[in-house]
Amino acid sequence: MRTNLLTVNEFEAAARIIRVGGLVGIPTETVYGLGANGLNPLAVDRIFQAKGRPQDNPLILHIPDPSWLERYCQDIPKSAWQLAKRFWPGPLTMILRRKSIVPDVVTAGLDTVGMRCPAHSVCRAVIQAAGVPVAAPSGNLSGKPSPTTARHMLDDMDGRINAILDGGDCQVGVESTIIDLTCRPPRLLRPGGVPLEELQAVLGEVEVDPAVVRPLDEGEKPRAPGMKYRHYAPKAPVTVVRGDPLRSAQYILDHITASYWEGVICFNEFAHWFEDHPVEQLGGSLDRFEHARRLFRALRAMDENGVKHIWAQCPDTDGMGLAVVNRLNKASGFHIVDA
Ligand code: TXA
Ligand code: MG
Repeated sequence: MRTNLLTVNEFEAAARIIRVGGLVGIPTETVYGLGANGLNPLAVDRIFQAKGRPQDNPLILHIPDPSWLERYCQDIPKSAWQLAKRFWPGPLTMILRRKSIVPDVVTAGLDTVGMRCPAHSVCRAVIQAAGVPVAAPSGNLSGKPSPTTARHMLDDMDGRINAILDGGDCQVGVESTIIDLTCRPPRLLRPGGVPLEELQAVLGEVEVDPAVVRPLDEGEKPRAPGMKYRHYAPKAPVTVVRGDPLRSAQYILDHITASYWEGVICFNEFAHWFEDHPVEQLGGSLDRFEHARRLFRALRAMDENGVKHIWAQCPDTDGMGLAVVNRLNKASGFHIVDA
């Protein structure tokens, strides 16, 4: 199959492909997604094949407007409408009880479904024109860092899907925040583009799923099935160095060998310390939105440089930091050291 690159002007062609059961890469404000008609089981099945995704890992449905929630969900709590009002369109996915119209293959047989109303204008135009909810996981091959540019998605998906709609670089850079509203208190399943603190301001108490902050023990079952897989992983092993920025940079300087094949992901202030190595800058040490925007790009760039080991400075967990730290920890298989 040949994968066509479409421009934003061709959004109707993308919608047509979705309507007839094909697969299209679509830009969202978080990361690129691999979209298909969420009501067509055969089309949804193709997503799993193209990504090499385990069948027990459910997909989320993308809708153009909060009013669509009632088509696919039941027992919708008041909190869902409050969150929709505050954060939609935007990088928030809500887990709600599903209606039977949602195919089993979307939810991996669960009685809940993840719902998201994305903010990217091109993405919204595609969903509107398709006229169906769009099932879309991140557009990477299973296990790899999510794509934040059309080219990154093409690197993974060329020949596996019908088209990719190039809507520019993703502005958030990490995936949506996932909140489960089917339990009390609501539970954060994945930190993402909407910071935990902002959810707490609307919901009050929010429980943080253990899978967000630590590796699960053997036999422990995560609430978001996807959280159990090694993820966001570049080819080279990653060591995450925690601690205040000056100390973590010093730690890396003390432990990195002279080999050119050790790469560093660091805050801008420290890039010149590592001149003899491949370096990817995350942004200034306090610019948490920039860290999110650049993280996956940095991990992919390290792969392209062919490095054998990656050292990464770790931000703190305030605001967007929680999502960045979560992705870094998973990319490293929780190989974390304290500086
Ligand atoms: O920002 C995003 O959310 C991107 C863009 C494309 O919208 N999508 C995305 O999808 O990150 P994906 O499939 O890569 O991640 C969705 C996560 C998976 O870990 C999955 O296990 C979890 O959501 N999930 C989906 N449905 C669920 C459900 N009913 N209950 C619990 N977890 C669910
Ligand atoms: Mg993903």
